[in-house]
Amino acid sequence: MKKIDMVLGLQWGDEGKGKVVDVLTPDYKVIARFQGGPNAGHSLVFDGEGFVLHTVPSGIFREDSINIIGNGVVIDPVILMEEIESIEAKGIDITDKLLISKRAHLILPTHRMLDAASEAAKGKSKIGSTLKGIGPTYMDKTGRNGVRIGDILSGEFRNRYETLREKHRSLLAQYEGFTYDISQYEARWFDAIEKLKRFQFIESEIVVNDFLEKDVPVLAEGAQGSMLDIDFGTYPFVTSSNTMAAGVCTGLGVAPNRVGKVYGIFKAYCTRVGSGPFPTELFDNDGDRLRSIGHEFGATTGRPRRCGWLDMVALKYAVMMNGVSELIMMKADVLNDFDTIKVATGYEIDGKQIDYFPFESNESVTPVYKEFKGWKCDICSVRKYEDFPQELKDYVDFIEKETGCPVKIISVGPDRKEIVIR
Ligand code: IMP
Repeated sequence: MKKIDMVLGLQWGDEGKGKVVDVLTPDYKVIARFQGGPNAGHSLVFDGEGFVLHTVPSGIFREDSINIIGNGVVIDPVILMEEIESIEAKGIDITDKLLISKRAHLILPTHRMLDAASEAAKGKSKIGSTLKGIGPTYMDKTGRNGVRIGDILSGEFRNRYETLREKHRSLLAQYEGFTYDISQYEARWFDAIEKLKRFQFIESEIVVNDFLEKDVPVLAEGAQGSMLDIDFGTYPFVTSSNTMAAGVCTGLGVAPNRVGKVYGIFKAYCTRVGSGPFPTELFDNDGDRLRSIGHEFGATTGRPRRCGWLDMVALKYAVMMNGVSELIMMKADVLNDFDTIKVATGYEIDGKQIDYFPFESNESVTPVYKEFKGWKCDICSVRKYEDFPQELKDYVDFIEKETGCPVKIISVGPDRKEIVIR
């Protein structure tokens, strides 16, 4: 019997999971999303063309792959159908390649409005949400009010939808001055619901376990990153799901003793979109260079990403919490031109140095840095680890020593071919 492998982001999201899943998919028949929703933006580049996926798993472009949207995911049918139509515009029919869990919750038009109203009311302390309705949908899930994919097929669907919409309307009325009109989006929403009916709605927990039982390799694809996890991230500046390894168990219905490899993805530096603690954030020229060289602008919202040096304290925390078995370092090429590269190895708080990720990681935290000499050459065409400059190998050695985990893959450019596998 096979175990499920998983790809997880170890930082604040945008580590490059889409590309890695796409590179790993030849080894996997089934790719499954287990949490998050259209707040995710997984970028793939192949044959010189870019593609951003939000809800559909990143295996969709591989022939013969099966792609499952698991029970832990929240789905906006409008965004999902747009995505499906843009994939099918490439001449790929995905009707039989995409399976959707009956237990996945639906993002209603009013969930999006609640997200917007709540963020506006928070003012300066806003989360910086992608405003896709993620938080309010998970609130209704845990509040036991949600509407699920499986409900679409029930005669009660319209009723359930309207009951929840009216509850939302009364909540929205409490936000003074907040006006909204969902009529157009609601029409598109029901249209998308109709179109979704050509896909198979499944008991994904049974299907996934069946595949594993039959030795079919399954890869779980995470969205966002460990530092945005609802329990262990930089709360309240987090997303509303468990982005960590444990989320695979609840978001797909796989038991912990059926977990196999845990691929942990991180960028050779750090980025974050939205508000919240980011100890190694740079406000200087180095930060601007990371942003422009790394094209650090949100794949879902287009917002400029905050940029900073690699944070070993946060990375070690994420490796521990996820039980990472193999590390994958992305965007090493972005550091090609830097004379000096820094890594935070500890934090100073009130004059005391700590080496663990604390409850509060706000402005009172000053990172303690170790400096590395930059490699100052173009590594984009390197395909064998031995051919890397010694300075990059030193950087990788340090990361392996600190985390106790091997760095198995190093990405040196956006294309699926620009990768070094050890
Ligand atoms: P929400 O999940 O849209 O509510 O956003 C909550 C926080 O998570 C915000 O700071 C977002 O910028 C961040 N976030 C959500 N999804 C992603 C993602 O896929 N990549 C990076 N950050 C994300």
